Amino acid sequence: MTIGILKETKKGENRVSISPRIAKQLIDKGFNLIVEDDAGVDSSFNNKYYREVGAQIEQRGVVYKESDVLVMINPFNEDDLKLVNEGQVLISQLYHQSNPELIQTIASKKVSAFSMDAMPRISRAQEMDVLSSQSNLAGYKAVILGAYLMKKILPLMMTAAGTIKPARVLIYGVGVAGLQAIATAKRLGAIVAATDIRPETKEQVESLAAKFISVEGPQETSGDGYAKEASEDYAKRQREAVNKELFRSDLVITTAMVPGKKSPVLITKKQVERMKNGAVIIDLGAAQGGNCELSKLDKTIFYKGITIVGTTISPESVSTHASDLYSKNMYNFIMHLTENNELKWDLEDEITDSTLIVHKGEIRKP
Ligand code: NAI
Repeated sequence: MTIGILKETKKGENRVSISPRIAKQLIDKGFNLIVEDDAGVDSSFNNKYYREVGAQIEQRGVVYKESDVLVMINPFNEDDLKLVNEGQVLISQLYHQSNPELIQTIASKKVSAFSMDAMPRISRAQEMDVLSSQSNLAGYKAVILGAYLMKKILPLMMTAAGTIKPARVLIYGVGVAGLQAIATAKRLGAIVAATDIRPETKEQVESLAAKFISVEGPQETSGDGYAKEASEDYAKRQREAVNKELFRSDLVITTAMVPGKKSPVLITKKQVERMKNGAVIIDLGAAQGGNCELSKLDKTIFYKGITIVGTTISPESVSTHASDLYSKNMYNFIMHLTENNELKWDLEDEITDSTLIVHKGEIRKP
């Protein structure tokens, strides 16, 4: 089976779906690899690294022509789809629920398409979950960005000129990004506290030696391990529980999301007004409306001495490692889908069933 690795065409995208390290692992397993010219160059992987591990470098047209499976990170677009041939298999993130026209076009080409963002959230799929591997890096980078924007340093520092107290960091939302943000802020020497609507995250927060802020009264979880939309009563109790910590924090990172819904507003304008002068908020929920009432996507706002950054922190900003982790997810996925280097098409399997959006020209997931 020949796997073609395409150069991403989305503006600003500098990751690559398979890094040379993972290319080698696939070649060692007996797959042929064709890599588009300069596909990895923006992730610091030049053509020569791919050649060294035995992959073939070709122009885009040749990659399309000679591959059985075509791999990308971003959805294949109209131009890409003009080049695909009947029977080929596409693997990328397709966001099929919000891209019905794209899925129609893919089906009309009589190809099959797997979507990495449709990975089921079950334990055995964790090693293939690109959303997790990329959010983990976003959590790390949020702390680094916050530290850069702060007018203070994070760790305790004892110097001849006096002692600097450690900064206080508060994290809202203890999912994949939040947990990594806690770990990173701890490593940098801050005093860290965190809160989440899911009480089971208390143990995870405490295992990182951070403080968990519990919200008193009835809890509001869906029971399946995922957050549901909080009631106004819960939001009020949460504000009361968190305010003391919020008003003395130097850096606040918000990562709270509810699948398929707008991000909950956890920090109101009134709360921002009571925060410490010079504090920084990094709002990772900005793309879904924001966890802070004042944040705006891709904007940095200065409000009464507080800096509020609305961002998604794209993993592109750490493209080498983002590509490497994405590649490992891809490797695990390809190994899961194949036997003796051929696709198994095991539609009974939950991972295959959930991610296979188009099968031989037929749309399976409307
Ligand atoms: P997410 O990105 O959907 O949300 C981030 C966090 O915000 C969640 O922990 C959520 O509980 C919290 N949140 C939502 N509303 C809130 C509110 N009003 N106040 C405070 N916190 C609020 O979460 P993510 O990163 O997708 O992780 C959710 C869970 O799924 C985690 O336990 C994670 O380990 C698990 N997971 C499992 C996978 C698998 O088994 N294959 C893959 C990915 C995640």
